Amino acid sequence: MSRTERLDFRSDTRTVPDARMREAMARARVGDDVYGDDPTVALLQERAAALLGTEAALFTPTGTMANLLAPLAAAGPAGTPAPRLIVGADSHMAFLEADGLRRFGGVEPEPVRQRPDGLPDLGELAALLAAGTDRPTVVCLENTSMMHAGNALDAAATRAVAELAHRHGAHLHLDGARLANAAVALGVPPAELAEPADSVSFSVSKGLGAPVGSLLCGTREQVARARELRTWLGGSMHQSGVVAAAALVALDRLPELAADHETAAALAAELATVPGAQLLRPPRPTNIVMVRLAGLTARECAARLAAHGVRVLALPNGYVRFVVHRAHDVDGARDAVRALAAATAR
Ligand SMILES: Cc1ncc(COP(=O)(O)O)c(C=O)c1O
Repeated sequence: MSRTERLDFRSDTRTVPDARMREAMARARVGDDVYGDDPTVALLQERAAALLGTEAALFTPTGTMANLLAPLAAAGPAGTPAPRLIVGADSHMAFLEADGLRRFGGVEPEPVRQRPDGLPDLGELAALLAAGTDRPTVVCLENTSMMHAGNALDAAATRAVAELAHRHGAHLHLDGARLANAAVALGVPPAELAEPADSVSFSVSKGLGAPVGSLLCGTREQVARARELRTWLGGSMHQSGVVAAAALVALDRLPELAADHETAAALAAELATVPGAQLLRPPRPTNIVMVRLAGLTARECAARLAAHGVRVLALPNGYVRFVVHRAHDVDGARDAVRALAAATAR
């Protein structure tokens, strides 16, 4: 592992497939998933559905596509009008997927304020739901909550949102891009966190380390509709067993995320000792650490860290984001802290 890779904390999407994954890809049995006969994709979908406790699952190229398919499939059979969509104001769906939802889904995301732990403000959500609509409504929840320093929400929190949504006849979609991190941090099976929701997208290409892919998990009916919509979007893949094989290896690696959480905790503890550093402290931390430096914008802070070989993302909330993954260790975290201390010294 090069120093550049060890000190690149921009995202856990930057994990690269290791030897075991590449070997699984090389040996993968494949068919043509457009014809429904790729055995490795079928196995992945079965295992993901079992992991999330749903009837069925659909392999998609990205989490973004799974999050687009979910509300459209929830609204009704392919071709029914777009649903009303309520999303957390700080969620990935609100700030990085809204253009696609609008353009390709005909959906206008309506933001709801999020609490510091990432949960939507239930009073505001209730008011939005009570305003009513003649269209099916989909509420989205993100777990972990990326902009809230990767806070893990427990099943009770998800259930509170689900009960509110269901009271108004709405569907709850869970963007579980990092649900695996939440499950490991809370010490519960992913199915327990997914249970209150009506559909879940689950990513294998973040900390779990697969090169691409997400699973949209839900009822057989939703998944059949999503499958048709995926074709319309050009997301049907042929010999996708090659990448599904890597995703199967990723599903075996959930327990390994605990090491990332430990490294992130060590990183947070040391960053907090740097004079002028302010950390966002989520109640249930996972693999994301957010820090800002007094007197510096997020961009300035990221640029100064980059000058010391450490790469982070500058976020719109004024913080820079460190995302810890399998390429990182405590030594790299210490180098990052030294870089931050040097950045403040100038
Ligand atoms: C919370 C969250 N949801 C969805 C996505 C989208 O996943 P993908 O990059 O696979 O489209 C991301 C990507 O980082 C994410 O962080």
